[in-house]
Amino acid sequence: MTVQGRDRRIAVFWNHGDPQAVDNRCPHMGFPLDQGSVHEGILTCHWHHARFALKGGCAFDLYADDIPTFAVREENGVIEVSDEPDAMPTEAYYRARLRRGLEQNLSLLQAKGIVGLLKLGVPVVEILRELVNFGCENHEAWADGMTLIALMGRLDPILSERTRIYGLCWASRQLAANCAGRPHRRERGALTGADESLGRLQDWFREFVLMRHLDGAERALLTANRLCRDQSDRQRTLSSAILQRVYLDTGHLYDFANKALELGEILTTEGAPDVWPQLLPLLVPEAVAGRGEEDSGSWRNPFDLISAIRAAESSVKKVEPGRGAVPDGLRDVLLGGDYQAILDAIVSALQAQADPESLAREVALAAAWRLAHFSPSNELGDWFGPVHTFTYANAVVQSLKRAPTAELLPAILHGAMAVFQDRFLNVPPGVYPKTDADPHAAAPDILDHILEMMDRAPHPRKVVASVVAWVRGGGSIEKLTDCLAWATIREDLDFHKLQAIEAAYQLSRDVADVKDRALLLAGAARHLAAHCPTARTRQQSPRSALALHRGEMARDEE
Ligand code: FES
Repeated sequence: MTVQGRDRRIAVFWNHGDPQAVDNRCPHMGFPLDQGSVHEGILTCHWHHARFALKGGCAFDLYADDIPTFAVREENGVIEVSDEPDAMPTEAYYRARLRRGLEQNLSLLQAKGIVGLLKLGVPVVEILRELVNFGCENHEAWADGMTLIALMGRLDPILSERTRIYGLCWASRQLAANCAGRPHRRERGALTGADESLGRLQDWFREFVLMRHLDGAERALLTANRLCRDQSDRQRTLSSAILQRVYLDTGHLYDFANKALELGEILTTEGAPDVWPQLLPLLVPEAVAGRGEEDSGSWRNPFDLISAIRAAESSVKKVEPGRGAVPDGLRDVLLGGDYQAILDAIVSALQAQADPESLAREVALAAAWRLAHFSPSNELGDWFGPVHTFTYANAVVQSLKRAPTAELLPAILHGAMAVFQDRFLNVPPGVYPKTDADPHAAAPDILDHILEMMDRAPHPRKVVASVVAWVRGGGSIEKLTDCLAWATIREDLDFHKLQAIEAAYQLSRDVADVKDRALLLAGAARHLAAHCPTARTRQQSPRSALALHRGEMARDEE
């Protein structure tokens, strides 16, 4: 039987004559439990057969979660049921749900924890910290789940509630998948009693990375970290080791290092524990195992880019970075077909005291041009190269903001050569709105229109036209970014699409020319639109969690 509680129906069962009361909504999907059966103290839900201990409400099938219980009293043949549960969900309760969901790789449980914490008003940074702590304890090497957490942290200030909830659930789900079946991470620890300078420890870290010695590299990095006074020191320590190999792991590791530093910056709040000794070691396995382009053929033939890069690197080794302007016409050179001219132009600009961050931004804009003009005659898999170039180029810009120093200058050269390598993907160039066209007004329904277009078969050209119209018409970059982030998060896509959107947004904030801002966001949007729509199965867990939190059945939410 069921009775009405204060805010929900309560199911009452008899177990060998002993009455027990539980929430009538099954914690799995919210379907009525009173249609279930009880045998020897175990309640089995009628719908998907999850089993619960009737006393206490604990689930035997972890995907279903525990059921809230209600006090029952029997006096003179009359049964009284409390109209409030024995325990109301607290922050600790939802944190425990999230943790268990991560440990058991159960996305619905994670989503319930995240939704519950957000609805209680727990700051997003605390949810990110919960996820990061789990990731640092449970896998050895940085993976896409950690990148997604960093992306959500970076984008959070401009996200709508819907994008935030679904995005955090995606990041959590991916992290749990990365860690599933992996052993607990074992700390190698910083060196004790090694009274060395930061410079010496950085040298050791570089050497251990080069000789592919995992334990030595991690211990040197952890010890160097203790002496890092600020983010500039940390950036220089990481960059100088990673940049020993050219465009290491298709640029992934430089980008991961940037994301690790961004995540650490977000989590470094007043009174919070030091995150660096947990975060930094996740970068080491790929640093020692990854392959640079000097190990591959495509940067050796038909042009020996590696020798040209090494010569350019030695030319800028002693350059003292300046604050001067970027030379006119550099972007045309970067998008040209003469690799030596590209390297020479960058070296000359640096020697003439051009600002390295501005130079790196020009490389990023050239990479955005490649995305925005990606030829429709390419295959879907061909997006891999230019999107990595673009996110790498963004990481170079962000790293130079932290440390505009000579050690980081090779990163600009590597990024420029990646742009050069992608040149065939713009033959013929994809259609892009004419820059001399009249700017359209940023009609408020353009963003809805963008989402609708991505509901149907891929329309990259039309999506690009709408994005450009919005930006040129003075539309909010923040609203557009939230729209594109939602368009990504609702799909079953990998992290690269959100990574490109976040890169475009961060870069656009420092770009004065509206045409360049449009180019950045159009590039990310074209990449996204080419991959939409998908089956959108990933929405199911957060959608169910939201419905259950409202006290509805999970199937009611469309
Ligand atoms: S097991 Fe109860 S609703 Fe699914």
